[in-house]
Amino acid sequence: MAELGVNIDHVATVRQARRTNEPDPVWAATLAQLGGADGITLHLREDRRHIQDRDLRVLRETVTVKLNLELACNPDIVTIACQTRPDQATLVPEKRQELTTEGGLEIVTHRQRVADTIKRLRDAGIIVSLFLDPEEKQIAAAAGLGAQAIELHTGAYAEATGEEGKQALELAKLRRAAQQVLDLGLTLHAGHGLTYRNVRPVAAIAGISELNIGHSIVARAIMVGFEQAVREMKKLVE
Ligand code: PXP
Repeated sequence: MAELGVNIDHVATVRQARRTNEPDPVWAATLAQLGGADGITLHLREDRRHIQDRDLRVLRETVTVKLNLELACNPDIVTIACQTRPDQATLVPEKRQELTTEGGLEIVTHRQRVADTIKRLRDAGIIVSLFLDPEEKQIAAAAGLGAQAIELHTGAYAEATGEEGKQALELAKLRRAAQQVLDLGLTLHAGHGLTYRNVRPVAAIAGISELNIGHSIVARAIMVGFEQAVREMKKLVE
């Protein structure tokens, strides 16, 4: 059965909209653990648009399940990771203008840079996962690089709604890529764009051990909590 890693970045996105101290992603991580999260995932981006260095430090001290840090192959962020020692690091590409991580890592062309980063993280005792598109040549290039896991990018599957048969094709692609990852003897993860409506076929892929889901959970949390939040404020105003 796949474990659930809850990505709390967008709790920090709401906080950063006002540069205040609420909502605190640390509090959200505690609630996520009470809700059964097997892991807490966060992305410390170079531009610090949501998660801040303080969040990573406090989460390292307070999270009792697996702490999974997403990061780019940026030497300064890798240094922070090596000092903070999350349980797992997931290497992702990062472009400043993107709304979210848009594609998987390009390890065919950036092989040495990725290999050097993996070595630094592993020397610090951190499990390393690579975020890759479900493409044969990218997964093949991951062999022997030193990472222990591959997280398959489910974005194309998630976005293939509406078009007849397109989602089934993307799912078949994910299944093939999943088998390739397992054949390499690597641990299989998946994530990006998964929602309450599209998660089940991905969770059912044989051999998958971790799903990382963020935006959809944060979006739902707002909706299931909004009425109570207004009720409490209304009471105070009255
Ligand atoms: N996995 C990785 C590697 C990601 O970069 C992200 C987005 O930060 C996620 C999973 C979660 O994606 P979403 O927020 O769409 O659930």
